[in-house]
Amino acid sequence: MIELKPEQPDDRWEVEALYDLCFAPGREALSSYRLRDEVPPVSGLSLVARDEQGILAGAIRFWPVHVGTADALLLGPVAVHPTHQGEGLGGSLIRDSLARAADSGWARVMLVGDAPYYRRFGFEKLEGVLMPPPTNPDRVLGLALTADAWDGVDGDVTRWTRMQD
Ligand SMILES: CC(C)(COP(=O)(O)OP(=O)(O)OC[C@H]1O[C@@H](n2cnc3c(N)ncnc32)[C@H](O)[C@@H]1OP(=O)(O)O)[C@@H](O)C(=O)NCCC(=O)NCCS
Repeated sequence: MIELKPEQPDDRWEVEALYDLCFAPGREALSSYRLRDEVPPVSGLSLVARDEQGILAGAIRFWPVHVGTADALLLGPVAVHPTHQGEGLGGSLIRDSLARAADSGWARVMLVGDAPYYRRFGFEKLEGVLMPPPTNPDRVLGLALTADAWDGVDGDVTRWTRMQD
């Protein structure tokens, strides 16, 4: 039995350790991390998954970003411990957090990732949405949480500058 809960400050270093385990070394050199520097993840949407013994099995984080003049959520990183991969936990973390994002009033979500995985959640390639280089444009994907929320939204993806609620 795995329980999903919003990430708390005390979870932070365990989540970092899980990401270090699941991603190649140097993950923080990726351009997407420049959008996260000095901006806290969105609380209430970033989730941890723990097993019945309290051991961390997976985690997902979201950051707020600007796309041109619009606001969006940047999904990721999401990771599931190798001993739990393929059990549907990644899908649960993504679907649960997207439902929370919609309930919180967010209109659109983007990410940089593998289209073959994220397609199942409704993500599609975004045209004209420019991540800081170097980013493969084919990996820049988006999902509208409200009808047509990506229509007319394009431009550079930049670091969040507003105060969070
Ligand atoms: C990607 C990840 C979060 C998926 O979590 P998970 O709990 O294993 O995923 P689920 O059990 O919900 O889904 C498993 C399905 O996703 C598929 N899948 C996993 N990673 C995939 C990828 N990169 N591309 C395409 N399909 C992928 C599996 O083949 C499996 O397919 P099936 O349903 O047809 O059998 C997990 O594998 C992970 O942590 N990987 C390392 C870190 C990472 O790559 N994160 C994503 C960054 S883009």
